[in-house]
Amino acid sequence: MPDNRNAEAAQAYHDATKHSYASVRTNAHSLDFDNQPLPFKIYATLEPVHLPAEVRQTGVAALSAIAEIVPPQTNAAPDLEAVAQLLYLSAGITRHRKYPGGEIYFRTAACTGALYEIELYLICGELANLEAGVYHFAAAEFGLRKLRAGDYRGALAEATGNEPAIAHAPLTIVCTGTYWRNAWKYQNRTYRHFGWDNGTLLANLLAVATALRLPAKLVCSFVDETVNRLLDVDAQHEVAFSLVAVGYDPSLAPRAPEGVTPLGLETVPLSRSEIDYPLMREMHDASALRSPEEVVAWRGRTPIIKLPPPTGPVAQLQPLSDAEIPRDPIEQVILRRGSSRRFARTPITLVQLSTILNRATRGMPADFLDPSGVQLNHLYLIVNAVQGVEPGAYVFHRDRGLLECLKPGNFRAQAGYLGLEQALPADAAVDIFFLADLRSILQRFGNRGYRAVQLEAGILGGKIYLGAYAQQLGATGLTFYDDEVTGFFSPHAEGKSAIFLLAVGNSAKSSVRGG
Ligand SMILES: Cc1cc2nc3c(=O)[nH]c(=O)nc-3n(C[C@H](O)[C@H](O)[C@H](O)COP(=O)(O)O)c2cc1C
Repeated sequence: MPDNRNAEAAQAYHDATKHSYASVRTNAHSLDFDNQPLPFKIYATLEPVHLPAEVRQTGVAALSAIAEIVPPQTNAAPDLEAVAQLLYLSAGITRHRKYPGGEIYFRTAACTGALYEIELYLICGELANLEAGVYHFAAAEFGLRKLRAGDYRGALAEATGNEPAIAHAPLTIVCTGTYWRNAWKYQNRTYRHFGWDNGTLLANLLAVATALRLPAKLVCSFVDETVNRLLDVDAQHEVAFSLVAVGYDPSLAPRAPEGVTPLGLETVPLSRSEIDYPLMREMHDASALRSPEEVVAWRGRTPIIKLPPPTGPVAQLQPLSDAEIPRDPIEQVILRRGSSRRFARTPITLVQLSTILNRATRGMPADFLDPSGVQLNHLYLIVNAVQGVEPGAYVFHRDRGLLECLKPGNFRAQAGYLGLEQALPADAAVDIFFLADLRSILQRFGNRGYRAVQLEAGILGGKIYLGAYAQQLGATGLTFYDDEVTGFFSPHAEGKSAIFLLAVGNSAKSSVRGG
């Protein structure tokens, strides 16, 4: 049985799924549109109960919602309307588009290839207008399918070694990843995408929870098998990836778990046939936690990986204060967001960039980030066009609120190349690369640290998306040539691994979507 602490598996997976100039040219994979997976999980025998479509608006500024954290022991529980808001604004359908290969149902959060492989489940006690149970979020119908009736939070608490936020949560949202739905296009690289796409979704979810004044905490430490069994997912195809505890009830004590019996519910096949990519299943298995004791030992004690003090020229950030920020509400900004398909080569301001970086990186409540405020990913930037900042390569010193110039120069062509030879990163005003010291992270967290670092990147990326759109800018996630990214930012970035890339700028009108 693979052991999480033997972290060679994660490093090997990462190395095996790197993109390079050569790898993209030797990969003969083409998309089989006749076998494209369904974008939704559909239980053939269960009728969904519709969620309320008309929900109240919080009116909370997006730039506040992405930055703030509700104190963890704030006594609060979501009602059905809040549940609907959380689900719609993190994974609801916003737009529908036909294209020659089929149809795309775009959702509120960005997702690689618009394939939407992340499914959401609820595990709750009795909430206002919602009975205790285990539910699947049916995005297509905007409803809930009840999988189990009754309070199963005890089983979940046990699976997390009684993690306090989970043990006291009126509701936990479980996010799963469905391999084939994304691997149809991205093959073995899909396991990285689980973290990215779960992360962008969670950026929305956490921001909406904050706007609703509900404490929320991301929990990645749980006994995988117990949670998968509770959801009754077939772990060869779909696996629990992250949990979010929502709300806090001080009176809740961990309850004895109820018996969890298999459900054997029929679901509509995603495709005529599926191609197996064992590498990602092996990666997931190698990062499994197998007992509550192992879970408890996994949490916290995050490695603090400091940047060396700046030695190059610096640009001090100028973020807007709470009184100065644009007040576009979180609901409006989430619905406005859509990945830029083309950027105009026009500059953004230093204030806009500063506000994005400052608001997106103030920390997130997660069990792998302790002490709170630590961050696994470091942000490196290619500045193409930011007023008042010389074009060049930079590293972001979060604690000092400044950008340190690593090398000045016009790097639009290099940015385009590093972003897999696409026009978007060449045209963007700024490209934000996330790099992490994977070795130290895996040393502390074992293979499961790989889930954490990808997830954190996705959440930060999702917050940057929202921070950009709150200021009428555009953004898009991008993929990249791994080692060449590290090489470009070296010697400063030596030894770090490229994890994520996001481009920000002024969107230009374009009729093309998807990608
Ligand atoms: C992590 C990540 C990587 C992405 N990579 C690319 C990319 O390399 N090229 C591209 O054109 N779009 C890319 N996208 C954008 C997706 O295609 C887009 O999110 C998806 O089509 C859904 O559309 P929407 O973001 O407008 O809702 C990426 C998105 C994410 C979240």
